[in-house]
Amino acid sequence: MLIRKIRPDETYPFNLLLLADPSIENVNEYIQRGESFVGELDGIVIACYVLLPTRPHTVELVNIAVNEDYQDRGFGRQMIEHAIAQSRIQGYRVMELGTGNSSVGQLALYQKCGFRIVGVDLDFFVHHYPDPIFENGIQCRDMVRLIIYLE
Ligand SMILES: CC(C)(COP(=O)(O)OP(=O)(O)OC[C@H]1O[C@@H](n2cnc3c(N)ncnc32)[C@H](O)[C@@H]1OP(=O)(O)O)[C@@H](O)C(=O)NCCC(=O)NCCS
Repeated sequence: MLIRKIRPDETYPFNLLLLADPSIENVNEYIQRGESFVGELDGIVIACYVLLPTRPHTVELVNIAVNEDYQDRGFGRQMIEHAIAQSRIQGYRVMELGTGNSSVGQLALYQKCGFRIVGVDLDFFVHHYPDPIFENGIQCRDMVRLIIYLE
């Protein structure tokens, strides 16, 4: 997979961006404020992530997604490893991200990539999303916050 920064003239892969976050308002804000990367296979964009500067020396990994037809083949991990390497190159010291309490596979993947759980925003999804979200038979209520030190 070729991972590269999105080109200025390129259409954003909204189908992928919305897989990671169903809120179009969030997605639009992230792509405007952040730096978007895409993963391409045989000329087709199959994955994306956005690096969003938050506090000094800190970047948040948002909107990481792999096209459903290409999941579970290691591409998600490649995207995360690329995001970590890219953030190191850019001089960030900490990368953070957040995921739902019900996102069991994502929580496993992030920890396999070296992220540590540092906190939980209780009822984040209940307050910020209009409809209840269920995954893996679990209601997605809380935002689990994870970080990795880049130094
Ligand atoms: C999350 C996502 C990006 C992962 O991409 P992917 O290409 O399917 O992931 P990979 O194949 O690289 O890796 C999956 C890893 O997680 C592990 N994993 C997944 N579910 C697991 C579970 N329930 N328990 C343990 N490990 C699990 C796999 O074993 C694999 O680990 P490995 O690298 O040691 O083999 C993809 O599923 C996706 O786009 N989901 C929808 C969007 C989304 O939820 N984005 C994140 C929002 S926080």
